[in-house]
Amino acid sequence: MEEKVYIQSLPNRLFHWSSFVMVTMLLISGFYISHPVNLGDAYDLDIAVFVQTAAAFLQSGIFFAWVYHHMVTGAYQDIRFRWRDAADFRGLLKYYFFMEKKPPVHGKYNAGQRLVYTSWFFVFIFLFITGLILYSVNFGYVLRFPVAIQKVRFYHFLGALWFLGTVPLHIYLVLTEDPAKLQAMFTGWVRR
Ligand code: HEM
Repeated sequence: MEEKVYIQSLPNRLFHWSSFVMVTMLLISGFYISHPVNLGDAYDLDIAVFVQTAAAFLQSGIFFAWVYHHMVTGAYQDIRFRWRDAADFRGLLKYYFFMEKKPPVHGKYNAGQRLVYTSWFFVFIFLFITGLILYSVNFGYVLRFPVAIQKVRFYHFLGALWFLGTVPLHIYLVLTEDPAKLQAMFTGWVRR
């Protein structure tokens, strides 16, 4: 018999979709800033810098609220990569490469998802710190170290590349694994 199970709380869904909008805007404006192209009046460097700064502050607020929420409710246990997940990872890769029929048994998220979510936690903190350093240029703090700031810009770019690579992977796996889980990211409920 079919049953409905509540798996995504309202705060989780709000954090998720607001992060999606902000991270998408950050990636588009950020890569535009690093490689500008002529799009006429529709989008220029001033607009991109404004979007990047505004979305960065909003996403930082969402991120730290999300961390606080996950700590207080204990939900971080669902997404945290544990050393024992490393053992499941091999089985999961075999499943993804069609060498096993079923993935290893797991809780809310599998070892691969845990690895990606945990990496996003650390990479976001890295982008937050390097982003603040780049922003501080506006106030003249680091203008005395022009070589160092180019390095910070490069590492910030690498951090953004990690998101550019892993977000499409996340979306691909969501769409190919279990569309019912996608519905739950909107309604909270999944049918089993
Ligand atoms: C910048 C883009 C995105 C980010 C940063 C992101 C982040 C996350 C995070 C952190 C989680 C774990 C949530 C938790 O329990 O705390 C998650 C889960 C999930 N996300 Fe995303 N997401 C993004 C884009 C998307 C998109 C576009 C879709 C839809 C196609 C999507 C669908 C889902 C689903 C369905 C889950 C639950 C997975 C499951 O139950 O197996 N996400 N996402």
